[in-house]
Amino acid sequence: MDFKLTEEQLMIQQAARDFAQTELLPGVIERDEHSKFPAEAVKKMGELGFLGMMVDPKYGGAGLDSVSYVLAMEEIAKVDASAAVVMSVNNSLVCAGMEKYCSEEQKQKYLVPLASGEVIGAFCLSEPEAGSDATSQKTTAVDMGDHYLLNGTKNWITNGGTASTYLVIAHTHPEKGHKGINAFIVEKGWPGFEIGPKEKKMGIRGSDTHSLMFTDVKVPKENRIGEDGFGFAFAMNVLNGGRIGIASQALGIAQGAYELSLKYAKERKAFKTEIINHQAIAFKLADMAVNITAARMLCMKAAAEKDNGEDISISGAMAKLFASQTAMDTTVEAVQIHGGNGYVSEYHVERMMRDAKITQIYEGTSEIQKIVISRGIAK
Ligand code: CAA
Ligand code: FAD
Repeated sequence: MDFKLTEEQLMIQQAARDFAQTELLPGVIERDEHSKFPAEAVKKMGELGFLGMMVDPKYGGAGLDSVSYVLAMEEIAKVDASAAVVMSVNNSLVCAGMEKYCSEEQKQKYLVPLASGEVIGAFCLSEPEAGSDATSQKTTAVDMGDHYLLNGTKNWITNGGTASTYLVIAHTHPEKGHKGINAFIVEKGWPGFEIGPKEKKMGIRGSDTHSLMFTDVKVPKENRIGEDGFGFAFAMNVLNGGRIGIASQALGIAQGAYELSLKYAKERKAFKTEIINHQAIAFKLADMAVNITAARMLCMKAAAEKDNGEDISISGAMAKLFASQTAMDTTVEAVQIHGGNGYVSEYHVERMMRDAKITQIYEGTSEIQKIVISRGIAK
């Protein structure tokens, strides 16, 4: 087993690190405070190829591997977890799902602008009464011959207001359970498609989260993804890869909080010595370093397996479960290490603590990851 990164992977990591420091760090506190979407930075991320990293260049992507994607996600999330979720949804839910499962016509029309960062996309599965229990969703898409009629509400949709292209999951044959679900490509602006107000959130406040309402929206037949009834399998398979993105986001948040804490512990003095010389503080840093290294290994393993074309349902879920717990544990202790300074915004770690929490909730809660893992290992 070779733990060394290739020249290309190191180059991507460095490019993402430089971008995060120069384009995302300035203003990250203000964007959090005012819930401001990082529009300029996201545009530049598109120009640099960070929004379609794994997509074949013939569809406007950068043609990189999943390991490079994990490296870039970590660097972006280390500085700005809100920008990282925009990147994760566009790359590993929207673009990856479209490249793998869409028709050539759909890819030419929708994937090319998404992968090149010209526009961004959203993935719409959750509903007010169906989050973890995704098969219980109520949104319907009734077959009208040459089109479907879409009705229902989707909740908490990342990029909900800023996206142009939406992948929407809906029931066509509710009597068939999960085998009656379809996935559709829906465009912003179609009659009957309304975007609700922006959610006021605890963390990732720079990201754009909305509910979406569909009232008799006409979706052309050619915008259905795959065969009739493929929608739930589509969502589950896309989420397997998406969980690597969120695991990497969690890893980045943890690494960012750890680096700030290590620096602070070497500088801050109490009882005539730097606080790192107090074992209680040094041991917190040791725990952080171990957990972050383990989380990184799980992310890399899942990414390498994805690149090898293996089933990543278990490894993606393991990476997300562990990395999100690591992000939470690390950021809570980062605030503690910073003492009173940890509680104010200019030291960044209180924001990181608020940002970390969502990684245990979206793209499948930690409890759902345990269901996926336990069902997988029982097979
Ligand atoms: N990979 C592939 N297929 C899977 C799968 C996986 N991880 N998990 C389940 N399936 C398949 C099963 O094989 C089964 O298919 P067949 O009948 O053809 O064999 C089908 O899905 C139904 O499986 P279950 O009977 O296990 O279904 P369930 O109703 O008990 O629930 C679940 C399955 C795993 C809990 C699923 O509902 C789930 O993943 N829920 C969480 C939803 C989620 O992650 N939402 C995230 C929304 S996107 C988001 O959050 C983005 C963001 O924040 C940025
Ligand atoms: P519930 O399913 O109601 O769960 C409540 C609690 O019960 C949780 O602790 C859960 O783990 C637990 N629970 C539920 N079922 C079980 C069980 N069987 N066993 C044990 N415990 C269980 N969704 C999208 O589709 N697209 C997006 O872009 C998107 N972005 C989001 C962004 C943000 C900021 C947020 C907050 C959410 C986003 N979501 C998105 C929705 C997210 O995926 C759901 O919130 C998540 O899947 C959990 O669903 P829920 O909120 O309905 O919780």
